[in-house]
Amino acid sequence: MCGIVGYSGPKEPLPILIAGLSRLEYRGYDSAGIAVSDGSEITIEKKEGKLDVLKEHLADRKINGNVGIGHTRWATHGVPNDVNAHPHSDNSQDFAIIHNGIIENYAEMKESLLSENYSFKSDTDTEVVAVELSKQWNGNLLETVINVAKDLEGTYALVVTTTKQENTIVAGRMMSPLVLGVGEGEVFLASDSAAILEHTNKMIFLENGDFVEIHDGSYRLFDTELKEVEREIQIIDWEVSEAEKSGHEHFMYKEILEQAEVIERTINGRLEEDSVEIPISKEQAQKYDKIWIVACGTAYHAGLFGKDLFEKVLGVPVSVELASEFRYREPIVGKNDLGIVISQSGETMDTIAATELLKENGSHVLALVNVVGSSLARMADSVFYLHVGPEIGVASTKAYLGMLVGQLLLAKHWDSKKKLDVSFEDIKGLPVLIEETLKCEQEINEIAESIYKQNDVYFIGRGLDYALAAEGALKLKEISYLHAEALAAGELKHGTLALIEEGTPIIVTASQYHLLDKTTSNVQEVKARGADVIAIGNSSSEKLENISDRYVTLPDSNEILSTIISIIPLQFIAYHVANKRGESIDQPRNLAKSVTVE
Ligand code: G6P
Repeated sequence: MCGIVGYSGPKEPLPILIAGLSRLEYRGYDSAGIAVSDGSEITIEKKEGKLDVLKEHLADRKINGNVGIGHTRWATHGVPNDVNAHPHSDNSQDFAIIHNGIIENYAEMKESLLSENYSFKSDTDTEVVAVELSKQWNGNLLETVINVAKDLEGTYALVVTTTKQENTIVAGRMMSPLVLGVGEGEVFLASDSAAILEHTNKMIFLENGDFVEIHDGSYRLFDTELKEVEREIQIIDWEVSEAEKSGHEHFMYKEILEQAEVIERTINGRLEEDSVEIPISKEQAQKYDKIWIVACGTAYHAGLFGKDLFEKVLGVPVSVELASEFRYREPIVGKNDLGIVISQSGETMDTIAATELLKENGSHVLALVNVVGSSLARMADSVFYLHVGPEIGVASTKAYLGMLVGQLLLAKHWDSKKKLDVSFEDIKGLPVLIEETLKCEQEINEIAESIYKQNDVYFIGRGLDYALAAEGALKLKEISYLHAEALAAGELKHGTLALIEEGTPIIVTASQYHLLDKTTSNVQEVKARGADVIAIGNSSSEKLENISDRYVTLPDSNEILSTIISIIPLQFIAYHVANKRGESIDQPRNLAKSVTVE
């Protein structure tokens, strides 16, 4: 969603804001803006479009100041245009404000302000807050922001500066992420630590209801009752280079290629029996009556993979739930259930709400997340960090792989009855296996050539392969805008088979030896209707290989690991198809990396 940056310190704010916004652009990118204050005047510049448009607009401008705030917007209220872009201001231009989240009662507030003759330029909920700040101004920015925040319903990360109180920024959060970077005599704000990592690795993750007053490069934290609060500084051990493209054209491509290296980190220290890196012990895991895996998007697809593993090793039912649905029904969650919430960002609003529901019902919540210190990591009772480093491409790749491997590690540690046919030694070999699988790129590039002009692509698989097919289809549609659909192979004949005709591309994932014959029969069905079959499977699946038009052979390995590495050819298919179509791979239209609104 929207990206936030702020700076207070001895340096010129503008270059710091622009650099931070570049690192945040993936969060939302239909417009961008900055505000820089020199104490007596605030300069606000904002432009519809990608950050480059703003950069070009500011190219020859020198905007000096002591504090600055910047924003990339992903529209919720009001179309993307210059006026609706942030920062917003009050009627006398004394305040500048940026905001991430949704103010649900903004319409009532706006109506009441209009009746008092205040005026508005934009259609946004944020401008209402700016006007309300000027109305409620009491001579102190921190107090005024907190007073106004008390009137707000909804979610926010708010950052405000004003000419009425020199060199000061006040920021606060309710449900939307906000990080404070602590430097030497300078302070940074961001919605994501990756945006300011080049300046400092000391971060404070604001809690809901926290407000920070920043003045001349120092800060103080308060709660809504103006009581000063202490928050721990966390050291983020991500390298700055991890959040850079390092010579590659796209983040997504770089993130696909680095999967062997990052998975090494996911498994590091977690292969020994009774590893302290496994947050729930074998004994504890046996005690749950039921498991709820709750997530959104790619993380949900990862959960589909985990379901089979956990059912097998724990012998209890596992339900995989879309967080946006789960939170609005009345699931029968017991006190003795385990909730596993999966999220790359740890900030997805629906997953957070689902976590609250699980906790309210008394179940233990284990979060599998990538971003250290994120909201879900702090809400959960236990945390398993993926350790795959910052993921910038909107289409998730390495984090998804980390989610699969993370669940495999948990299942392996909980497997007291030795039901899983994979050893720690096998898992240790995964990085090498991933490296081997990445060699399929050239072959996939040729396959992409035959697909990229199509309109519809179908993905089929059975069992764990179906979970992978679902993710493969999502990857393709996210970045290439082709219609892609995944089906459990056995379901084809119950409807979708009607859509298969001469030349329809069907991508088959067939890593599961014990389901091979069944999948091969389904491939016969589509072949008989003229489909163009691209299969991904093992070297021993001759029958399937013979009937497929193209066959991508996975390196020989254990069955579960085979399934895990099958995602690599699927990621390459999506990437190369989108590239051939000339689409904006890292920033697909209408999508954002982190969805912090409902
Ligand atoms: C967005 C992203 C997806 C992601 C989903 C869940 O829709 O575009 O790539 O899978 O959110 O995000 P999370 O951070 O919770 O894994």
